[in-house]
Amino acid sequence: MACCGRSLDSPCTLALLVGFQFAFVLYFSLGGFKGLVSVLVHTTEPEFDYSRPHDVYTNLSHLGALPPPPRNSSIGATATGLPLKDCQLPSPLLVGPVSVHLSSPLSLEEIRQRNPLVLPGGRYRPPDCEPRHHTAIVVPYRNRQSHLRALLYHLHPFLQRQQIHYSIYIVQQWGNSTFNRAKLLNVGVREALRDEDWSCIFLHDVDLLPENDHNIYTCHKQFPTHLSVAMDKFRYRLPYTQYFGGVSAVTPEQYMKMNGFPNHYWGWGGEDDDIAARVRLSGMKIIRPPVAIGHYKMIKHKGDRGNEQNPRRFDLLKRTRLNWRSDGLNSLTYELLSKSLEPLYTNITVNIGEDPRLPHKGPIPVKSPTPVQQQNTSKSDSTVSLAKKRQIKAAAAVNLTVIKAGGKKPESLQLKANRTAREMTNRV
Ligand SMILES: *[C@@H]1O[C@H](CO)[C@@H](O)[C@H](O)[C@H]1NC(C)=O
Ligand SMILES: *[C@@H]1O[C@H](CO)[C@@H](O)[C@H](O)[C@H]1NC(C)=O
Ligand SMILES: *[C@@H]1O[C@H](CO)[C@@H](O)[C@H](O)[C@H]1NC(C)=O
Ligand SMILES: *[C@@H]1O[C@H](CO)[C@@H](O)[C@H](O)[C@H]1NC(C)=O
Ligand SMILES: *[C@@H]1O[C@H](CO)[C@@H](O)[C@H](O)[C@H]1NC(C)=O
Ligand SMILES: *[C@@H]1O[C@H](CO)[C@@H](O)[C@H](O)[C@H]1NC(C)=O
Ligand SMILES: *[C@@H]1O[C@H](CO)[C@@H](O)[C@H](O)[C@H]1NC(C)=O
Repeated sequence: MACCGRSLDSPCTLALLVGFQFAFVLYFSLGGFKGLVSVLVHTTEPEFDYSRPHDVYTNLSHLGALPPPPRNSSIGATATGLPLKDCQLPSPLLVGPVSVHLSSPLSLEEIRQRNPLVLPGGRYRPPDCEPRHHTAIVVPYRNRQSHLRALLYHLHPFLQRQQIHYSIYIVQQWGNSTFNRAKLLNVGVREALRDEDWSCIFLHDVDLLPENDHNIYTCHKQFPTHLSVAMDKFRYRLPYTQYFGGVSAVTPEQYMKMNGFPNHYWGWGGEDDDIAARVRLSGMKIIRPPVAIGHYKMIKHKGDRGNEQNPRRFDLLKRTRLNWRSDGLNSLTYELLSKSLEPLYTNITVNIGEDPRLPHKGPIPVKSPTPVQQQNTSKSDSTVSLAKKRQIKAAAAVNLTVIKAGGKKPESLQLKANRTAREMTNRV
């Protein structure tokens, strides 16, 4: 039967209708346009099976059997004079998703035994090939012993499989003043570059563990990289587009270009957005690995003492545009108290000064030029969630800066407030 009949009730029309219906069902079951495109056009987005991760120490025995020859500096051939061939790209030792154990990390001595090729100071260099990348990992730190052990247990085998030359720096804030992550990062970068000619610097939170070793710890030549794009805490999604916290990376040149990081963020929050703003203001942009690769698990913990939320963070962010050239690397002052080569890391202990808002006890009250209006919502509505209250608080904080800024409402602040509110919701 030819399918070109003119009559509407021909069996052909019926068949066409059914066909269309079927096509529609198929279209939506494939997730609309995007799904259809990804089926028709083979996308390059990699896929990984996170349900069957490898042990993080997998393939470590494949590393060169001999301990690395002693070296004085990062440059050149082996001590025997024999040039090594360049390491393969990508490293043949990679396994993809690795399992992350958050509970009861091993002792430092046990971790050391499992990483026999790691040299004092937490340094490593592939014994059997010439690495193409030289990465310093800088970790701001205070009073997080068990997190540190989990990080070292995890990161050392992870990085050795990537066949890069690296070192792990723990930058410990001395004293009891409020924690200042960004300034510690500045110190870490400067001290690390004193040791070696690193080509890449990682800014790494102590409580984040990478879940996929295809997330290579190297830098992009041109632009700063943000690596922790998919954290379990944010349900493996990027919380907002300018997010630069957690784990990120810059080359020394990029770091100079943005005048390092701000020195005036005491307490939790804001400094990562400031750094992201510096990236933009200095004419660069943030690049990221695919979400399927940038998976991280965060070690859960309660907000620690001495790292309360920074009530001035929105205020400071507003001023980044004016201040970034004068506050940062070029205004950094600190007192280096010690720098020691521990078996699994370099311990930099530093006095970065006092939070000007101290002394105080407990959470810092928001100082307001005009008293923030107390909203008299009906008490009977006891279902007002904690998250909601915090959202209001965050909104109030934005308002504060808006008042000071003379009524302008910068979008970045809005974003930040939204993020804070969302984060709080996640935590509740
Ligand atoms: C390596 O360093 C040691 C001590 O730091 C020095 O005695 C030695 O001469 C150096 N060797 C080379 C090849 O530079
Ligand atoms: C380990 O490394 C070898 C190559 O050295 C590779 O063939 C293998 O796929 C890697 N992964 C596992 C899980 O063994
Ligand atoms: C920090 O506080 C502890 C106890 O509160 C005190 O013993 C210690 O001396 C303080 N450290 C500094 C550097 O002030
Ligand atoms: C680092 O060194 C300081 C000073 O020697 C010491 O008090 C601190 O416990 C060390 N921290 C770590 C994590 O090893
Ligand atoms: C706030 O609520 C309390 C108790 O419901 C009430 O006594 C008070 O008058 C209210 N204040 C304002 C400003 O509405
Ligand atoms: C924000 O400021 C406006 C006036 O500038 C005020 O009407 C509003 O209530 C404030 N909101 C909060 C949450 O404080
Ligand atoms: C922040 O959240 C508010 C209300 O939830 C929304 O109206 C606003 O568009 C959001 N702002 C941004 C920049 O996402």
